[in-house]
Amino acid sequence: MKAQAYQKCINFRCGAEFDRMDVLFECPRCGDLLDVRYPWDKLPVPGSLGEFSNKWSSRHNRLDFSGVWRFGELLPFCEEPHRVTIGEGQTVLQQNCGLAAELGMRPDGLYLQYEGLNPSGSFKDNGMTAAYSHAMMVGATASACASTGNTSASMALYSHSCGLKATVFIGEGKIAFGKLSQAMDYGAYTLQIAGDFDDCMGQVQDVCRKLKIYLVNSLNPFRLEGQKTIMFRILEQLGWQVPDWIIVPGGNLGNSSAFGKAFAELKELGLIERIPRLAIVNAAGANTLTELVNDRGLRWNGGQVDQELIADYYADLDARQYRANTIASAIEISRPVNLKKCIRALEVCDGVVLAVTDEEILDAKAQIGKYGLGCEPASAATIAGLKHLLADEVVGKDQRVACVLTGHLLKDPNATVNYHSQMQRPFSNPPVQVPNDLDRIIDLMKA
Ligand code: F0G
Repeated sequence: MKAQAYQKCINFRCGAEFDRMDVLFECPRCGDLLDVRYPWDKLPVPGSLGEFSNKWSSRHNRLDFSGVWRFGELLPFCEEPHRVTIGEGQTVLQQNCGLAAELGMRPDGLYLQYEGLNPSGSFKDNGMTAAYSHAMMVGATASACASTGNTSASMALYSHSCGLKATVFIGEGKIAFGKLSQAMDYGAYTLQIAGDFDDCMGQVQDVCRKLKIYLVNSLNPFRLEGQKTIMFRILEQLGWQVPDWIIVPGGNLGNSSAFGKAFAELKELGLIERIPRLAIVNAAGANTLTELVNDRGLRWNGGQVDQELIADYYADLDARQYRANTIASAIEISRPVNLKKCIRALEVCDGVVLAVTDEEILDAKAQIGKYGLGCEPASAATIAGLKHLLADEVVGKDQRVACVLTGHLLKDPNATVNYHSQMQRPFSNPPVQVPNDLDRIIDLMKA
């Protein structure tokens, strides 16, 4: 397959362009974020999205089997021999009538895009397959990331499968055990920094600059190309119809940025007629995006994002010695690196942002689990957020909503067990103690 792409600075005033073979995670001229861009007129883009469904008939080909590379024509930055795949993207869109009814929505209106089914148990594999394909294309030998857990699990898996060294930076005591166990078991060199994710993110960038190591955090524009396919798969499972809303948790804001880019490109290519609205849900203890957008009025503004407004906010966080704090450890981030791209996505998708409390997240998580596919706390921010959006009539009860469940239930078993062990929570389901006695067991079961 033909590959052609270049990198371009998103800053309206800079707009510098770079070759797709350059290993960059920031614009060398102005330090802003980079996009991967394509000369679509020179590339073989399918005439309709339905053509992607036909690839099922050739799924013996591992790239057609991949839920990412099946859409290769929409992320054509790398030739086939360099494309790395371990079977990512075999995820399902579950129509959840039970939960829809409980939320007072039309029964066929709520869909959960279950990204926990990926090889490492989270959506990150969509991005890592793309980042490591670029790493192979440029001949990288060592890779690194900062992580709240899932990025490290995914990068450890992919680096292992393509023979790159992997170093993970994690915050002290900040990572759920399911995720830490993956990074260790897949053989990553794990550095636990005396600090939080934001500290790790700063350190890993400096280390990658100094030691010329390939960075696989979502600052890497090629990684986000893979994450666009989560949206392609939602559309595919809806018979190529566009839902009214996409709801996603917001942490480092890579997903929301990638989703906005996916829809902007589909529209530009004439493959969809309208763009769904996007709701991004923060945890209340990590609500930088919500504060900047809702309280301080940060906007895309044609590519001229108010940098001073962001700098003032961060100075304010420093002055208060503020540290993000939430049970949803995956999104415990106060300086999201993709902030500006996310602001652009909000503009593209007429998006909204909101924050939900830890209690709301945990209750929503138990409700999601009760009706089928479980998830980790960060993912449940979607349903917690949807409840607010329905109550505020931002989302209509008869609209079609797709929530992205970003990570598997088993990533953070402690959060689940702790919740269910607390009898007073509305959806807690603790184990019942019973003597080792058949009659007593049967009595209890009949009750
Ligand atoms: N949900 C889960 C399960 C995550 O692991 C993350 C991010 C997010 C949501 C937020 O996604 O950053 O695209 O806004 N986890 C990163 C990590 C930060 O290191 O694993 P985002």
